[in-house]
Amino acid sequence: MKIIILAGGSGTRFWPKSVKAIPKQFLALTSERTMIQETYLRFQEWLPPKNIFVATIEQYVETVKEQLPWLSEEQIIVEPMPRDTGPCIALTASNFLNHGDDEVLVTMPSDHYISDTSELRRVLDAAESKAKQSACIVTLGVPPSRPEIGYGYIETQSEETQDGIYKVNHFFEKPSIEKAQQFIERKHMFWNSGIFIWKPSTIAHYMMEYHGSMWSILTGSAELIKERYAELPKISIDYAILEKAEEIYCIPVGFKWDDIGLWSSMERIYPVDSDGNLLHGNIHALNTTDTTVISDHKQTIVIGLDHAIVVHTEFGLLICNKSEVHKVKDILQRIEMES
Ligand code: GDD
Ligand code: MG
Repeated sequence: MKIIILAGGSGTRFWPKSVKAIPKQFLALTSERTMIQETYLRFQEWLPPKNIFVATIEQYVETVKEQLPWLSEEQIIVEPMPRDTGPCIALTASNFLNHGDDEVLVTMPSDHYISDTSELRRVLDAAESKAKQSACIVTLGVPPSRPEIGYGYIETQSEETQDGIYKVNHFFEKPSIEKAQQFIERKHMFWNSGIFIWKPSTIAHYMMEYHGSMWSILTGSAELIKERYAELPKISIDYAILEKAEEIYCIPVGFKWDDIGLWSSMERIYPVDSDGNLLHGNIHALNTTDTTVISDHKQTIVIGLDHAIVVHTEFGLLICNKSEVHKVKDILQRIEMES
């Protein structure tokens, strides 16, 4: 199997640590290593290094090279500009098929926390065997613990089709909060981990079926792709293929997993103190509860805060109520439009 680490996202929800020039996959959020380094090292332990690739946009190629100096030029798949994971994964499949290579691919986000590499290896080995057999897509499902609206949901059949593998009945990308609430109360419902296991020819099959004109550009010459990539729709693979395809399977996973999607995710990774606070940096907190403070500055004082998030870096200062932290992305978009 080959691992394709997807590393072209912009991740603005971690402002003011992540900014357009340094999105979250290039930040050290869960350890002293950056998210993309954590992702790479997870596989380096058990796969030949030549089997690990990164797909990213032109703008981030230098950062990828700096953070993963082990990669050769051929192991970096470059998209001219961000068009989301649909075109990115299709381009990757087209590249391999061009070389007559139909080995199973694991398309792997670079922004995840995964607690247990040996369990990841177990499920990926099982997924690879399944994906080899036919033009099917294998997903890894995480048992849901809250009505998260930033994830996709996978509903499987109740009976296994074979050991630990379930046929998927429905795939729902990023539901409303009302739907998410209903989903977590249903049986046989999983969060989509965003990790897909499939052959390049399977990706090609679905691209031809649902996005014929996009596929014809992506199977053209390198010049044509460069010239016309901007025309492609910005669409994630979840909407482009997963919501439509019929041959999808799911393997429920046993590792602890998190997308680290918002500042509020940090307290699921790092332990909080007895007041429920997560304090990173030289922070002095008084009468403060259930609050996350992350500061690169010399000294930070917070007094009388509850259920808040404060992040101070060289790029800016964020102060918000925890329950509204997902709105950071919206306000940044507004600022960009106004400027
Ligand atoms: N190369 C490349 N090009 N990578 C990209 C692009 C692109 O244009 N856009 C996004 N990525 C990368 C991101 O850097 C990330 O590692 C991965 O692809 C997934 O993109 P996200 O933007 O983080 O997706 P998401 O978290 O909103 O949703 C997906 O993941 C969830 C779980 O983490 C979906 O698959 C959901 O269904 C899923 O639950
Ligand atoms: Mg993500």
